[in-house]
Amino acid sequence: MNKKILVIHGPNLNLLGQRETDIYGAATLAEINRRLETAARSFGLDIVIWQSNHEGEIVDKIGKSAPEGFAGILINPAAYTHTSVAIRDAVAAVKLPVVEVHLSNIHAREEFRHKSLIAPVCVGQISGFWGGSYLLGLQALKDLLI
Ligand code: DQA
Repeated sequence: MNKKILVIHGPNLNLLGQRETDIYGAATLAEINRRLETAARSFGLDIVIWQSNHEGEIVDKIGKSAPEGFAGILINPAAYTHTSVAIRDAVAAVKLPVVEVHLSNIHAREEFRHKSLIAPVCVGQISGFWGGSYLLGLQALKDLLI
């Protein structure tokens, strides 16, 4: 049976394609998701893709992921990367590998984006390859799991 990966897109990522395209790229979230689905098929992984603008919903989703049979999580916590102790604690508590991704290179941007509260409790972080960050993150999870 294929391993199942949960992809979580955080706040405002529903606006990709129209939002600061010089920073995040021109691809819409639907286009990124299609590329993820194609890559997952080629890796022999099943993926479920989910987006939320709400911190508590993201905490709940992470908490339910292991009992729901997921084997790993790919997450772009978006703005919550820099603020959310609650999401960090949810990631620390979940007994699954979690990979953090960002479209932009957060380390090359405003200082408040340099710090991720989530990255220290993840397996690793991929940042700066626009939509490609998600594909690299999925590849990393595949290598960890297969
Ligand atoms: C982001 C970077 C965050 O700083 C920002 O708040 C986002 C998107 C990225 O993917 O580059 O919303 O996570």
